[in-house]
Amino acid sequence: MKTIALVLAAGLALFSVAAAARAAAPAAGSVSHGIAVLHPGKDSVVKGTVHFKKEARGVRVTGAFTGLAAGTHGFHIHEFGDCSAPDFTSAGEHFNPTGNPHGAPTDAKRHEGDMGNVNATSDGNATIDYVDSHLHFDGAPSILGRGVIVHANPDDFKTQPTGNAGGRVACGVIGIAKSE
Ligand code: CU
Ligand code: ZN
Repeated sequence: MKTIALVLAAGLALFSVAAAARAAAPAAGSVSHGIAVLHPGKDSVVKGTVHFKKEARGVRVTGAFTGLAAGTHGFHIHEFGDCSAPDFTSAGEHFNPTGNPHGAPTDAKRHEGDMGNVNATSDGNATIDYVDSHLHFDGAPSILGRGVIVHANPDDFKTQPTGNAGGRVACGVIGIAKSE
């Protein structure tokens, strides 16, 4: 009797370990790489490509842009992946699933979409590369299907709820990219 109980207990323990391992593993088909290809709006020639790659500490955001005015330009994820309006107002407001105030990418409380600014050199090119601990690919706060916008003016990280970044000069939609 005692032996049977021991065998049963051992079996249960093994089963629990296996179940825990399954729970910890990422779900099949879970996304780890997103991409947005940005196209220009009216009166704009700004283009760009932005990659979002899952890392241990968050999501690495890398991007390259052309056709910008030299200087600083607000750079956000907006709530809708809808770039259909010529002025890109169809992309809605900053993506903000947690109901936080607008802020800088380094702020503890900020819109999930607050990726800060990109800085263009005199040739109109800009690149960005940083790891964002606020971005997610899973659940309600997933960035997949949302819009990426580059603005005409700098994001001041203060003005609510936009950062006073002005017009929208490029727009793209975050899609699922091939994992590498
Ligand atoms: Cu924006
Ligand atoms: Zn914001």
